[in-house]
Amino acid sequence: MPNWPVFNPRFLRRIPEAMLILGIETSCDETGIGLYDTEAGLLSEALHSQVALHEAYGGVVPELASRDHIRRIIPLIRKTLQEGNRTLDAIDAVAYTAGPGLAGALLVGASVAESLAVALDIPVVGVHHLEGHLLSPLLGEQPPGFPFVALLVSGGHTQFMAVRDVGQYELLGETVDDAAGEAFDKTAQLLGLPYPGGPALSRLAENGDPGRFALPRPMLQSGDLHMSFSGLKTAVSLLVKSRGDDDHAHIAASFEAAVADVLCRKAELALEQTEMNQLVVAGGVGANRRLRQTLAERLARRGARVAFPPLRLCTDNGAMIAYAGACRLLRHPEAAQQPGQFTIHPRWNLQEYAQASGLR
Ligand code: KG4
Ligand code: ZN
Repeated sequence: MPNWPVFNPRFLRRIPEAMLILGIETSCDETGIGLYDTEAGLLSEALHSQVALHEAYGGVVPELASRDHIRRIIPLIRKTLQEGNRTLDAIDAVAYTAGPGLAGALLVGASVAESLAVALDIPVVGVHHLEGHLLSPLLGEQPPGFPFVALLVSGGHTQFMAVRDVGQYELLGETVDDAAGEAFDKTAQLLGLPYPGGPALSRLAENGDPGRFALPRPMLQSGDLHMSFSGLKTAVSLLVKSRGDDDHAHIAASFEAAVADVLCRKAELALEQTEMNQLVVAGGVGANRRLRQTLAERLARRGARVAFPPLRLCTDNGAMIAYAGACRLLRHPEAAQQPGQFTIHPRWNLQEYAQASGLR
């Protein structure tokens, strides 16, 4: 049995009102480290993307991902501290992505975070990856205040959430099949584009006419906030078979327009239903230029505001984990974990997480 105290109230007392926190993200194929100071803001961040490593396989290979995280994580932490002009012993707390994600990959970040916390005798907190994305627009310029509607659009999720405060998340609606990012990736594959498909498809779409092909807008009129993207991929597949390579840019642009149209219409409905006037967009697909433009234009027409994280913070990164960890520790010091008791949650529902942390 490890010789850890069962309860250590010292940790509750030792969370300072202002803190320097190191964030560690290793849930999938990006090793991300961020250094956030609650008074000075984001000091530095470093990222290593494994895109090149997994490219040949057309998707993420979990075992390769874990091994690469192990190789990169310590040099990245050093680089982040150096660029932030801080030493290891200046850190007040560590936050890591505890889930959801690939088990082996999560374990790398969790065990490094835990080791640092024990060695430095500072608190450590496990963060939900989606909470990181959800709060990441607050790291941007002119951050929105609470409450807001969040649109989470990543490779694994497409959800509307009412966010009333840190830890208060209500699911309003979500995709019933593929996530929007998944639809981007699969459509890109149909068009012969390299992995990961989203950015490649959106580059190709820049030379296409979004009105050339009328692709379906599934569940546009369903009256609720659920969405479906798998039919869109089937429609693209039929088009690709019946058209030549010359039409690929038009197909990409028409696909993007269909996704942006559905997400916009649903975003308008979410604001109507919640009587809120701010939308924040988070997750990898939030980097999509057409989606950003369409949302900004259409929401401005109804007097609502849309906020995006800075482009580099749309996809996975350590800065958002540091930020979410700081919010959590400052508002809910009891979220700090006992040393030696770190956990990971490869499958983890955001609302369950909020409820289990006793925040509602
Ligand atoms: O949030 P993220 O980095 O990882 C998780 O899924 O958690 O999101 C990755 C997804 C991928 O499906 C990728 O193709 C998509 O975001 N993505 C984009 C763009 N950049 C990344 N999709 C459309 N346009 C982009 N510019
Ligand atoms: Zn993500």
